[in-house]
Amino acid sequence: MRDMSVIIEGGQPQRGQGGGQGAPAVPLDAQAVRDAYRRWAGVYDTVFGFISAPGRMRAVAAINALPAERVLEVGVGTGLALPHYTPAKRVTGIDLSPEMLEVARRRAQDGMPATIEALLEMDAEAMTFPDASFDAAVAMFVASVVPNPRRMMAEMRRVVRPGGTIMLVNHFLAPKPGIRRGLERIVAPFSRALGWHPDFAMDTVLSPAQMAAATLQTCNPLGLFTLVTVPRDVV
Ligand SMILES: C[S@@+](CC[C@H](N)C(=O)[O-])C[C@H]1O[C@@H](n2cnc3c(N)ncnc32)[C@H](O)[C@@H]1O
Repeated sequence: MRDMSVIIEGGQPQRGQGGGQGAPAVPLDAQAVRDAYRRWAGVYDTVFGFISAPGRMRAVAAINALPAERVLEVGVGTGLALPHYTPAKRVTGIDLSPEMLEVARRRAQDGMPATIEALLEMDAEAMTFPDASFDAAVAMFVASVVPNPRRMMAEMRRVVRPGGTIMLVNHFLAPKPGIRRGLERIVAPFSRALGWHPDFAMDTVLSPAQMAAATLQTCNPLGLFTLVTVPRDVV
């Protein structure tokens, strides 16, 4: 896989919540997320496990390479990433969906190389952790699901210590017009049923300063997903 490791340029918001490409056309709320993932929980690993694996593995490898010990996984879902953290990590996972967490807890019971400190039902937009509780936070395939992604980012910044690292893996709206962006716009009206936004632009979650400071790495399959690494101290 090609490692782009590019620094991207910041842009001025043009449409929607803070974004040049604009906020997704169909808003999701917490209840829509819970409803969607109640339905997905039993089949999530089968339906999404394979396609999301390269992005997830890349993010966990990046987290493992950090000197970070205390790691927060936001939107831990069924815990597919949990077996891949190294023994040096102490991982806490949170999720809005009790059904997804139930699968994660069953997975964690099998024993993990890392210490799984807690798997908690908690809203990523209103976490109950004290400030600076973690060395790093990662949200994999979550930013386009949460009702207010900027609020999630603000919370991730708050609970990560100064000097720490924030990572996102997500599918982002194609930056330029073309077949891919056209397809993403066509599928967008089904966001509530899907439980995520196919038309999710990167500047919906990142501020212009974070966009400018972010390191981007494309992930398979077909470069559909992007690992975004942002220094915690950039606002
Ligand atoms: C597409 S799944 C990704 C799961 C997991 N990160 C993975 O890599 O497979 C999105 C997850 O985000 C969770 N989620 C959505 N909104 C959330 C919120 N506000 N707070 C916490 N979790 C949330 C959903 O319940 C779901 O489990």
